[in-house]
Amino acid sequence: MTDEDSELMHGGIVNKDLAQLRLKPNLRGYDDLRKTFKWADADKLVEWFPNGKINSAYNVIDRHALGDNKDKVALIYDDGEGTVQKTTFEQLYRETNKFANVLVKLGVKRQDRVFVFLQRSTELYVSFLGAIKAGAIASPMFPAFGPDAIRDRLLDSSAVALVTDSELVKRAYQVKNQLPDLKHIIVVDKADTEAGEISYRAEMDAASDDFETVHMDPEEFQFMLYTSGTTGKPKGVVHAHKGIVQQTLTSRWVLDLHDEDIYWCTADLGWITGVVYGCLGPWSCGVTQVGLGGRFGPDRWYKSIQDHRISIWYTAPTAVRMLMAKGDDLPAKYDLTSLRVLYSVGEPLNPEGVTWALDVFANKPFHDTWWQTETGSILITNFPEMPIKPGSMGKPLPGIEAQIVDENGDVLPEGEEGSLVIRPSWPSMMRQIWKNEPKYNEYMRNGWYYTGDTAQIDKDGYFWYVGRADDVIKTSGERVGPFEVESALIEHEAVAEAGVIGKPDQLRGNIIKAFIVLTPGHTESDELKEDIRKFVKSRLAGHAYPREIDIVKSLPKTRSGKIMRRLLRAKELGLPIGDTSTLED
Ligand code: WTA
Repeated sequence: MTDEDSELMHGGIVNKDLAQLRLKPNLRGYDDLRKTFKWADADKLVEWFPNGKINSAYNVIDRHALGDNKDKVALIYDDGEGTVQKTTFEQLYRETNKFANVLVKLGVKRQDRVFVFLQRSTELYVSFLGAIKAGAIASPMFPAFGPDAIRDRLLDSSAVALVTDSELVKRAYQVKNQLPDLKHIIVVDKADTEAGEISYRAEMDAASDDFETVHMDPEEFQFMLYTSGTTGKPKGVVHAHKGIVQQTLTSRWVLDLHDEDIYWCTADLGWITGVVYGCLGPWSCGVTQVGLGGRFGPDRWYKSIQDHRISIWYTAPTAVRMLMAKGDDLPAKYDLTSLRVLYSVGEPLNPEGVTWALDVFANKPFHDTWWQTETGSILITNFPEMPIKPGSMGKPLPGIEAQIVDENGDVLPEGEEGSLVIRPSWPSMMRQIWKNEPKYNEYMRNGWYYTGDTAQIDKDGYFWYVGRADDVIKTSGERVGPFEVESALIEHEAVAEAGVIGKPDQLRGNIIKAFIVLTPGHTESDELKEDIRKFVKSRLAGHAYPREIDIVKSLPKTRSGKIMRRLLRAKELGLPIGDTSTLED
């Protein structure tokens, strides 16, 4: 069918028939709200301790367990292999209390860094939230990370504790001697632990399920997440407890969570989407969440929607494209009528992705949402009540001033491309880059927060994504810094120099492409390239390796020796080379 065939499509726009919606959207009257909304209004969505203190985890778990939602299922964890485990808010409350007690007994102090390196599991949520309850700064790590990625994060943050499992711990052991501050390794699935390890099970069994969630200043930190920039190693983006206000608000207004919803966010907790919308925000709204273990698979995903009667689904464009590629016969085999609203994030969502869903999910389009690790919650989005212009990111959240500006910070006229900026500050905005003030300051110029993205605004106030203004790569929606990949590459004995770019790809948005100069004595071969790919996968991360490698004689560099990735990209894509006055020769 063509897009225009859908009853909601007119003139390339997806209209909403509000009378036909199963539930009334939580946000209604966007234009008025943009004028009247004050952040102080949102403070009422969460519970506060006396004297203005707060704890995000109290809002996420305790307030429900101590109230009417006590026996409501908080988590449906489906391991994807036939075992489904349901945990109520009260059970999560007791488990997280125990884990907080385990940390206190170990001597973990307020604002110490506790890393959680686990496959998706009930323990993952329990240890992440338990650490926040205890006043620690919790930091989840993506399970595909290799030893180098682990070392960089734990070292930079001086982490004192790591919660992991018997498989993943092996990667941590490869770098443990470089981590002098790491005192505790807690292993969730081993009865007999190695010397120096702590058994999660044994400690949890011995711990009391009573704990008074620590009262925090709203500006103290709840979690940190390392993310990639253009230069240097990943940086620790730090988020304050106050952020829960906006994380709750957006879960209501954007994700439109209602009490009866069954909600599924497909992102791993190692990424910001998983932390904020696969854990904190939805539970703060008291909604039942589904967690699905294992890897992406069209059959498994449709089955999950059917079996758990999922109503709200938050996923990523690469997944949407992969589902589209499987064709429309497959979803027709499942009962997907439970779905109510669909969302996507992480990279541009093609117009076809938005409208494909109209057909396959009975007139339900995907709603694109835009945000970043640094912004802490959704800032620009398609709201359920609004018509969608497929391909557009939508409009700013009430309370958020977003603009397109030039290099001087001057606002550009509608339709012109420029830097996407946000007026600081908002409750869930990052508070610092861990121990790196200069890095934080790089974001702040001319009174704006620079997102690093370029975009434009149309005459109706809809925002359209153009691209990244820097070298950050989005591959399958996951954020990768070229410098990290280059650093891992040159650790390989055959690699003398490396330059890494994102190369546009139909399915994955971008793939990682490396240009390398070989060390003397090595010659180009398919085996060598494969060996290099494997090396990067095992050292850095399973997802952040170059799918394509070109061997070159030299790399374009500035006179100060910096690799000019811009030139590599221009050459690869046949784009104009631009200014080369700083080129070495
Ligand atoms: C990109 C993910 C186009 C963008 C929550 C941003 C998007 C970066 C969209 C942040 C979107 C995110 N359309 N691009 N709807 N959403 N991005 O930190 O380049 O992993 O700056 O946060 O993803 O990636 P991060």
